[in-house]
Amino acid sequence: MRFFIDTANIEQIKEAHDLGILDGVTTNPSLMAKEGISGKENITNHYKAICDIVDGPVSAEVIATDVEGMIREGEELAQIAPNIVIKIPMTKDGIKAIRYFSQKGIPTNCTLVFSSGQALIAAKAGATFLSPFVGRIDDINWDGVALIREIAELYAVQGFNTEILAASVRNSRHIVQSALAGADIVTCPLPSILGLLKHPLTDIGLAKFLADHKKSNA
Ligand code: G3P
Repeated sequence: MRFFIDTANIEQIKEAHDLGILDGVTTNPSLMAKEGISGKENITNHYKAICDIVDGPVSAEVIATDVEGMIREGEELAQIAPNIVIKIPMTKDGIKAIRYFSQKGIPTNCTLVFSSGQALIAAKAGATFLSPFVGRIDDINWDGVALIREIAELYAVQGFNTEILAASVRNSRHIVQSALAGADIVTCPLPSILGLLKHPLTDIGLAKFLADHKKSNA
């Protein structure tokens, strides 16, 4: 399974990259706004900076909601770097844009996915990646991980190549559960990735090893 980081924060991307386990980056307009990045030139430069750090796929989301605008923006975004993936929302126009980019061999990430029906049509349109939002489904008292499991089964039965990119991941447990449910990739904030490293018994055990070593080497 691959790890993407879900942020536009350069320091956090560097930190995850330095761990040696980072396979890609996802961003969205909210994450760009959180970093104070606005204006076409600044946004373009920010994507360039991210692509300079990470070789793997970097999702850059279109703002337009009509197919012509999505295609225009997507083509511009694709010029930024060879590893840019055009992130497109799950709408009727979005599906048309995904189909367009798929036929041109430009990778896409279909975002804001909340059902298996949406997953089916995105795969049929040729989406490279599919982003079901695990946390936001849990937020409405539904089961985000169950959706990942159902989409994984659907894609396996039908032989779709679209990769399941579990998104809106809120904690380390979501990562493990999404992996077990068949996600190809998990995109998550840095604290959720770092949380995978933690266990109190590891800290206690290490402290004891060091103390015992110190005693016998005094
Ligand atoms: O990848 C989508 C993600 O950024 C949304 O996360 O926590 O805002 O639901 P969240």
